[in-house]
Amino acid sequence: MRVIGIEGTAWNLSIAIVDEKDVIAEAEAVYIPKHGGIHPREAAQHHAAEIKNVLTKVLSAAAERGVTPHDIDGVAFSQGPGMGPCLRVVATAARTLSLKLKVPLVGVNHCVAHVEVGRWRCGAEDPVTLYVSGANSQVLAYRGGRYRILGETLDIGIGNALDKFARFLGLSHPGGPKIEELARRGREYVPLPYVVKGMDFSFSGLETAAEKAVNDGRSVEDVCFSFQETAFAMLTEVTERAVAHCEKDEVLLAGGVGANGRLQEMLRTMCEERGAKFYVPEARFLKDNGAMIAYLGLLMLKSGVRTPIDASAVKPNFRPEEVEVTWR
Ligand code: ATP
Ligand code: FE2
Repeated sequence: MRVIGIEGTAWNLSIAIVDEKDVIAEAEAVYIPKHGGIHPREAAQHHAAEIKNVLTKVLSAAAERGVTPHDIDGVAFSQGPGMGPCLRVVATAARTLSLKLKVPLVGVNHCVAHVEVGRWRCGAEDPVTLYVSGANSQVLAYRGGRYRILGETLDIGIGNALDKFARFLGLSHPGGPKIEELARRGREYVPLPYVVKGMDFSFSGLETAAEKAVNDGRSVEDVCFSFQETAFAMLTEVTERAVAHCEKDEVLLAGGVGANGRLQEMLRTMCEERGAKFYVPEARFLKDNGAMIAYLGLLMLKSGVRTPIDASAVKPNFRPEEVEVTWR
């Protein structure tokens, strides 16, 4: 089976064609805000302007590998969660494509797609997943036929917190990699609020305190280092507790922030100490990507799931628990 998938919940408009084994073709267009953070309407305009171009690129890359539009068996799209205006552009394109190719449509949950692409690429069986991106920070595990959120951020995602702090420092978007670079040169730990409540965590107060520490004269490198140490320790603590509670022995990292070497190191150490396996896919499958949408679409279509046009409205607050896992 071959499925084309469209992702465009936020900054990355990405389209891919996959089969059960691999990614056949992929293309993307990245929206970079001119100033400040991501503006939903601007991002949606970007996606609308670029989608024809990206689709053409994917189809010609697939043609070079002998795959034509007639070989495509389904169209998948990220139905949510994400920015409403962006989701609507993607959904409109997906409906059109499904009607044109005369193949079924399937709307997929973006968070579940991050998990499934990680399992696919790393061979993890039944992991606890730490999904950390700009807008989302969640600890997920499969239980009773659904992916449950065991813990999550009470305010902003860790990526947004890093990006916001980077903006305060005058650095351009995305800030995460720049903070990681600065943090490597940090030496002294500056105490910052460590907020874990039950299985949930919060980053907003930490970000404000980091700004204050810089205003109070602490070195930028030390504050970046301390920001990462504090935030990533919070994420690692909750992930470890989830592993213990669910009696799982695998941890999977997902989302753009997963590219961070220090976060990977902390999770790897925690896993080693617990005798659990740690999995992290290649960076292109960590960040938002069309392949994960196409691949989850393929799993869903194979298990008989279809999204009729009249049920294909976007779901900006789509929770992973809402999805019945029919493919495991
Ligand atoms: P969504 O929230 O819908 O999943 P997103 O727009 O946040 O999507 P991702 O690609 O998953 O998309 O993540 C982007 C985030 O990852 C940005 O906040 C960026 O700063 C952060 N990021 C990327 N590389 C690193 C890094 N090396 N260290 C820390 N953060 C990083
Ligand atoms: Fe994402």
